Amino acid sequence: MWPLVFGLLVGVAGRVEIPPHEDVARVARFVAHSSDWGALATLSAQEPPMRGQPFANVFSVSDGPVGSRGSGVPYMYLTALEISVQDLQMNANASLTLSLAQTSYCKKKGYDPQSPLCAHVIFSGVVEKVPNGTEADFAKTALFSRHPEMATWPPDHNWFFAKLNITNVWVLDYFGGIKTVTPEEYFNAVP
Ligand SMILES: *[C@@H]1O[C@H](CO)[C@@H](O)[C@H](O)[C@H]1NC(C)=O
Ligand SMILES: *[C@@H]1O[C@H](CO)[C@@H](O)[C@H](O)[C@H]1NC(C)=O
Ligand SMILES: *[C@@H]1O[C@H](CO)[C@@H](O)[C@H](O)[C@H]1NC(C)=O
Repeated sequence: MWPLVFGLLVGVAGRVEIPPHEDVARVARFVAHSSDWGALATLSAQEPPMRGQPFANVFSVSDGPVGSRGSGVPYMYLTALEISVQDLQMNANASLTLSLAQTSYCKKKGYDPQSPLCAHVIFSGVVEKVPNGTEADFAKTALFSRHPEMATWPPDHNWFFAKLNITNVWVLDYFGGIKTVTPEEYFNAVP
């Protein structure tokens, strides 16, 4: 019974189509939930001349388990040993770019990653630690279900859960220039 229900849910989720491009906030939620990773840009804390310069690095993300509705919140699993996390300790302002280029969608449609039709979203905000509790439990389920290898990452690295507290959302999902949605519109949207 349960494997059947689960199979159906996954089957349905697999067929979910991108929302219409004019539903910009819904598209942003769709891209966020479809993404397993993104590029996080920080301001470098390395030695000059790099210090203060933009520095984009890849991070695994999850806003919720595959097949769920998703929270819209990009969660990450970080360690202070990581170079970008050292940037964040000096300045936690960051931007995170997520793109459907990482899914089969753009390839199937023949959309180049730089095409606005290959929907992508740029979030900016502040990267915050998620304190132990229900939200950290959710972050763990969200991340470890999509990234099972995380469970084996070396415990002595003192991994912690973090999220981007989103303050701005930019969306490229169609021609005519970039669009913005407020965090309220983004979190209220049904993906
Ligand atoms: C982070 O960005 C905000 C604006 O969103 C700004 O007020 C603040 O000074 C920035 N923080 C740092 C450490 O630069
Ligand atoms: C939070 O949880 C982690 C792992 O579950 C544990 O190692 C850590 O000590 C906890 N921190 C606090 C402040 O309770
Ligand atoms: C996110 O940041 C805003 C201000 O930029 C702050 O008011 C809010 O408490 C933060 N939210 C969380 C969940 O930390």
